[in-house]
Amino acid sequence: MVTVNHNYLKLPGSYLFSTIGKKVKAYKEANPQANVISLGIGDVTQPLAPAIIEALHKSVDEMGDAATFHGYAPDLGYEFLRSAIAKNDYKDRGCDIEADEIFVSDGAKSDSGNIQEIFGLDNKIAVCDPVYPVYVDTNVMAGRTGEYNKERGNFDNVIYMPCTEANGFLPEFPEEVPDIIYLCFPNNPTGGAITKPQLQEWVDYANKNGSVIIYDAAYEAYISEENVPHSIYECEGARTCAIELRSFSKNAGFTGVRLGFTVVPKDLVRDGVDLHSLWARRHGTKFNGAPYIVQRAGEAVYSPEGKAQLKEQVGYYMSNAKAIYEGLASAGYSVSGGVNAPYIWLKTPDKMTSWEFFDYLLEKANIVGTPGSGFGAHGEGFFRLTAFGTHENTIEAIERIKNL
Ligand code: MLT
Repeated sequence: MVTVNHNYLKLPGSYLFSTIGKKVKAYKEANPQANVISLGIGDVTQPLAPAIIEALHKSVDEMGDAATFHGYAPDLGYEFLRSAIAKNDYKDRGCDIEADEIFVSDGAKSDSGNIQEIFGLDNKIAVCDPVYPVYVDTNVMAGRTGEYNKERGNFDNVIYMPCTEANGFLPEFPEEVPDIIYLCFPNNPTGGAITKPQLQEWVDYANKNGSVIIYDAAYEAYISEENVPHSIYECEGARTCAIELRSFSKNAGFTGVRLGFTVVPKDLVRDGVDLHSLWARRHGTKFNGAPYIVQRAGEAVYSPEGKAQLKEQVGYYMSNAKAIYEGLASAGYSVSGGVNAPYIWLKTPDKMTSWEFFDYLLEKANIVGTPGSGFGAHGEGFFRLTAFGTHENTIEAIERIKNL
């Protein structure tokens, strides 16, 4: 008799953004006249930059000519892209990362979900609470957690590190030492950032305890403050304890194009095995490479024109972040984030729960956001708005909220 993976049955409900999508669809069907503005899922709205479009056109033409056609991409990514990444994202920032330590993929969501596969099921994970749901859900699916505890609103056998107003939304070292520590900075969902000395403490902690940090830096392009690191490899000793995940979705608008990468330094050894070779084995077996045309588009992100155009695009979204932050603050909301990240984290008014506020905003202002409790128990009473809307919609949304 066929049995299923019962770990999946531990997951309550559907994936957060699927649940929101269904709710919004139902609302729109019932209220076809409503002009609903979405500041919910962190999906971009600006078109791909001209330098990227040009690279795409050129590489599509190459694919139509036998002399320049490309079949399967190399498992780990084309050399031209891996070198551009190593130089621009790492060496130019003083980080000691080589091109052959970079694994090109179809995005940080898959990598952040898949990376847990190279670790034993007996490892204990630690996550921030609130947290990007993919880290926890994929560990649940793998069987690395216990059951879902309805009262607590989280899983047994997972170390949750509360990120609250009281600690400035930064995790503190947990009482029990974790094996695998997921950190995301600039943070999704709180929009908070970590300073380099603070991150150095985590690196030292991981090296001292033999833990591994999985560092999600998908939002690094939004950093505006000097003392905030763009990569964990800016910290001393990170090569022996950290894996870094990066995305082209938020810095270059590739949410629908799909491209990302993971860095596994060759010095990262646990249980007598270097994790680089394990991830290479996994990648080579289960992934046939990101498309040539997409990798060429990724290369254009690092061209002088690409860099200038994307700086402007990130600036556009960050002016939205500023408008949301200031608009909500002037309306009396308690807000944070939005300075080094495209997310604004606000406290729900009148002690509403996160989902009550979601319904309230949708019904009274036709605005979609993301309930903080969807990211974890300590997100209850909070709400996330994204700066990835168009400028016009963002301004309109803030006016509507102010007028409530
Ligand atoms: C989010 O809204 O949290 C992100 O868009 C999710 C993602 O990047 O997968």
